[in-house]
Amino acid sequence: MGFSIRTLDRSHDLRNFSCGTKELDAWLKNTARQHQEKNISRTFVLMEDQSPTVVIGYYSLAIRGLTLKEALPQNMKKALPLNVPAMTLARLAVSLEEQKKGHGERLLLDAMTRVKTVSSLVGGSFLFVDAKTIKLSDFYIRYGFTALPSDPLILCLRIADIP
Ligand SMILES: CC(C)(COP(=O)(O)OP(=O)(O)OC[C@H]1O[C@@H](n2cnc3c(N)ncnc32)[C@H](O)[C@@H]1OP(=O)(O)O)[C@@H](O)C(=O)NCCC(=O)NCCS
Repeated sequence: MGFSIRTLDRSHDLRNFSCGTKELDAWLKNTARQHQEKNISRTFVLMEDQSPTVVIGYYSLAIRGLTLKEALPQNMKKALPLNVPAMTLARLAVSLEEQKKGHGERLLLDAMTRVKTVSSLVGGSFLFVDAKTIKLSDFYIRYGFTALPSDPLILCLRIADIP
């Protein structure tokens, strides 16, 4: 079975997307395209090649702006300016019936690779994510993210550490 991850566009059918978190469903259906048109964020959708309009999952990326170096984990602060430029994985979701099949991992790794490419063009030191729950923060920790000392639900990954 082949899968593709593409930039969200008008051809994608979002009407039946349901990941179990209403806010993430509503954002994809009502806001993702608007934000894309205004360059606020970019959304990427996962489809099976045989059903190229049915969205299985999505993630969105945005600029996080400057983050105070002091907020970072101790081992990541070294030799950085007072404020560090960062990107954010603003949203990540997989439709309920497709969860636990590896699509969340597929989307997260794609997001990390994309962020690495972007940073090679314009800089950017960290990728951040705001986890909804502690259990979800464990999901991100598995892929190399570290929680901020001040808030276990905010995690960061040094972009230089993305393979
Ligand atoms: C979180 C989410 C994206 C994971 O997607 P998924 O396709 O089910 O994940 P995968 O199948 O790729 O799982 C990858 C690994 O992470 C683990 N994992 C999956 N969901 C997890 C969760 N909610 N918490 C902790 N670990 C999780 C899996 O057990 C798996 O490990 P394994 O291979 O050892 O079993 C998905 O459950 C989802 O969309 N949830 C609702 C929306 C949401 O909460 N988004 C995150 C906002 S911060």
